[in-house]
Amino acid sequence: MLRLDAITVQFGGLTAVKGVSLSIGAQEVVGLVGPNGAGKTTLFNAISGLVRPTAGRASFEEADILKAPMYKRARMGIGRTFQIPQPMHELTVRQNLLVAQRFGAGRVDEAKVDEILSFLHLSDKADRDAATELSLSELKALEVGKALATDPRLLLLDEVLAGLETASKRSFMKTLTELHARYRISILIIEHDIETISNLCPRVCVLNYGQLIADGTPQEVFSDPEVIRSYTGGGHD
Ligand SMILES: Nc1ncnc2c1ncn2[C@@H]1O[C@H](COP(=O)(O)OP(=O)(O)O)[C@@H](O)[C@H]1O
Ligand SMILES: [Mg+2]
Repeated sequence: MLRLDAITVQFGGLTAVKGVSLSIGAQEVVGLVGPNGAGKTTLFNAISGLVRPTAGRASFEEADILKAPMYKRARMGIGRTFQIPQPMHELTVRQNLLVAQRFGAGRVDEAKVDEILSFLHLSDKADRDAATELSLSELKALEVGKALATDPRLLLLDEVLAGLETASKRSFMKTLTELHARYRISILIIEHDIETISNLCPRVCVLNYGQLIADGTPQEVFSDPEVIRSYTGGGHD
């Protein structure tokens, strides 16, 4: 359903993503890993329309996406979260979902928003101020909820599990597994922790210095010497 063909993203003299080709099938769950600064978030930005690739092609369900602005890609079915949760200030949790839904789905469906709130265990927080009254795991759940409110068929999750302590991380992982079963969508998830990614994703892609250096099962990928070197070499921000 998503097909990237030799995508390159440059910022001035810096090549953040270098010739990445990658396909993701319907209902697939794929992990995207790699050191800090490897280009993971930039690749999400290129797919969702926040940055324009310097070269390459990208299609979603056979339609070219690179010329479409962000809201159109959202309406085509590409939903995403942001690495740093960005709730809209002075709005409640429910209002945040309604605004995201109007932007990304082009309509308002309050019943669907209530269903998402309940699924993410946010119903009792629905009328709280999103920016000031949520814990980190609730903020991350809201971030996922905003993406779900756009009715995605592909969900891009940027480090939604990072920074959570073990218990919340576990319950959040369970929520993601349920989410996949319930909404039957494809998921591409950026996550650092090898054990977490191995539990969630039957397939893992590894970026290093902007290049795709491995694509396979967690067992294959995490025993690959080049991947191990990239992991132990530290980040390159
Ligand atoms: N908007 C931008 N302008 C300039 N450089 C950027 C921008 N976004 C990311 N970069 C750079 O691109 C590289 C890849 O960053 P990023 O995609 O955020 O990596 P990751 O998510 O894998 O940690 C880094 O060197 C980062 O500093
Ligand atoms: Mg990132």
